[in-house]
Amino acid sequence: MKKRALLLAFSFLLLFVFTGGYQVWATMAKENYDWYCTQCHGLKGTGDGPNSRPSKYDIKQPDMSVTPRNHRSAEDMNKLSDEDMRLAIKDGGKAVSKSALMPPFGKTLTDKEIEDLVKYLRKLCNCKGK
Ligand code: HEC
Repeated sequence: MKKRALLLAFSFLLLFVFTGGYQVWATMAKENYDWYCTQCHGLKGTGDGPNSRPSKYDIKQPDMSVTPRNHRSAEDMNKLSDEDMRLAIKDGGKAVSKSALMPPFGKTLTDKEIEDLVKYLRKLCNCKGK
């Protein structure tokens, strides 16, 4: 009887650790995205944040000449590998021969945070990439 109770307690502990760990990851990546990316890529990741499409928000500024990637578009995002995304986020658009309007975050975010953002982007587009 005692053994079973112990086993049950241990299972709950495992469950707690796993779900807890997952939540920490999910919050961190989403928080970083909301804080650093949404002003251009949009609150929902559709590429129309106030910095890129000010006209949409009644802000009298010119729209960005290059549209930030729509992170919800599986069609667009499938063209990128995880490594493409990692590079673009770390070293900026220029590093992947794209617009320099996509800033580098290598000095702001750790490699782990960038890795988690790549996973988060894969969730947004619901796609696997090439
Ligand atoms: C100042 C505006 C701005 C911010 C802030 C920004 N981006 Fe971008 N991003 C862009 C633009 C513009 C492009 C499109 C570049 C192109 O297609 O030439 C882009 C493209 C991308 C791409 C696709 C690159 C490719 O190879 O097509 C990824 C991935 C990306 N951004 C991720 C992020 C993430 C993650 C963040 C936050 C950590 C972020 N961006 C913050 C403007 C921004």
